[in-house]
Amino acid sequence: MDQDLVVRAPSPQPADTGAGSLHTRTILEGVGSYLPRRVVTNDELAKRLDTSDAWIRERTGIRQRHIADDDESCAFMATQAARQALENAGAGVADVDAIIVATATPDQAFPATAVRVQAALGATGFGFDLSAACSGFIYGLSVADAFIRSGQARGVLVIGAEVYSRIMNWEDRGTCVLFGDGAGAVFLRAGHGHGTGADRGILSTHLHAQGELGDILYVDGAVGRHDRPGHLVMQGREVFRHAVTRLSETVTEALAAAGLEQSAVDWLVPHQANLRIIDGIGRKLGLPPERVVVTVDRHANTSAASIPLALADAWHDGRIQRGDLVLMEALGGGLTWGSALVRM
Ligand code: UT7
Repeated sequence: MDQDLVVRAPSPQPADTGAGSLHTRTILEGVGSYLPRRVVTNDELAKRLDTSDAWIRERTGIRQRHIADDDESCAFMATQAARQALENAGAGVADVDAIIVATATPDQAFPATAVRVQAALGATGFGFDLSAACSGFIYGLSVADAFIRSGQARGVLVIGAEVYSRIMNWEDRGTCVLFGDGAGAVFLRAGHGHGTGADRGILSTHLHAQGELGDILYVDGAVGRHDRPGHLVMQGREVFRHAVTRLSETVTEALAAAGLEQSAVDWLVPHQANLRIIDGIGRKLGLPPERVVVTVDRHANTSAASIPLALADAWHDGRIQRGDLVLMEALGGGLTWGSALVRM
C-alpha cells in the first residue's frame, strides 16, 4: 500500500459558534436522479452481439440499462438530477454556493459540465468537474465536505452524471453489456453536530488511488475528438480481483475511523458494477441482502452516477430514513477507490 495516495478527511473542527462543543458537519439534505427514457434489455443486445441474457445476468446481475438519446446530454441529465435534489432538500438555487460534477463523459472538454448546470439552474458561486471514474461521486462528497467544513461554501451540489454509451465499443461484448447512462445528485449543507457517530451528516470519507494500475481500465481516446473519441477498455477479471480486496479494506477503514461497529450500518449503498462484488461486500459487513441497495439489475454500471442513483432509489421509496447510517463505497478506473460514511 506504500505506493497508494491515501487521503483521509481530517477530524471535524469545532465550529466558531460560541456553543463550545459544536462541530461543523456536512448534512445531506436532498437527493435527486435522472434516468434516460430509453431502456435496452439484454435480449436486445443479444440480437446484435454474441451474448445472452443468461450470461449477462449470471455474471453481473444486469437485466437492462438506460441509454441516453441525443437530447439527453450529460449536462441535461445532471441538471435534472440537481433540480430534484434541491427540491427534495427544500432548498432554492440561492442556497447553492458550489457545484461539483463527477463525470468521465462530459459533453465538451470545457467548459465544465458543472458550469452548464449552474447556468441552467441560474445559480451563482463556483463549479468544476472532477475525474475519478467510478469513484467520482465518493471523491466529490469528500471535496464538498472539505469545502463546507473549511467554511468556503455552505451549500454544495454534488452530481454524478455519465453517458458511457458514447465511449462504448459496441462490438466488444466484454464491456458494452456492462454499462448504462444516468445522473444522480445530492444537496449538501453546513450544519452542526457534537463530533460523534450519532451526528447527522458525513462522518468520514476515505480516498485512494493507485496509478500504476491505470492500464487495466481506461479510455483509449479523448472526449471531443471526433477522429478518436475513445472507447472504454477493461481487463474485467483483473478489475474484479482488485475491487473485492480494496472495497473490503475500505469499508473496514471507514468504520474504524468513525469508531463504529459493522452492526451500526443500516444500509450499504455500493457502486453498482457487478452483483457478485456487491453481495461479497454485503456479506463482509454481515448485512442481510435487504439492507444492501441494488440497482445494477435495472441501471447496469453508470460509473460516477451509480451511487447517487442507488441512494435516490432507496431514499425516495422510503427504505432509507433520516438518522440511518449509510456506507457508500466505489472502485473504478485509476485505479481509484474510496468510501463515505453518512448519517442521513
Ligand atoms: O465500475 C468499474 C469497476 N468495474 C468492475 O468492477 C468490473 C469488474 N469485473 C467484472 O465485473 C467481471 O470481470 C466481468 C463481468 C466484466 C466479466 O465476468 P468474468 O466472470 O470475469 O468473465 P471473463 O471476463 O473471465 O470471461 C469469461 C468468458 C470468456 O470466454 P472464455 O474465454 O472463457 O471462452 C469471455 O469471452 O465469458 C466470455 N464473455 C462473454 N460471453 C457472453 C465475456 N463477455 C461476454 C458476454 N456474453 N457479454
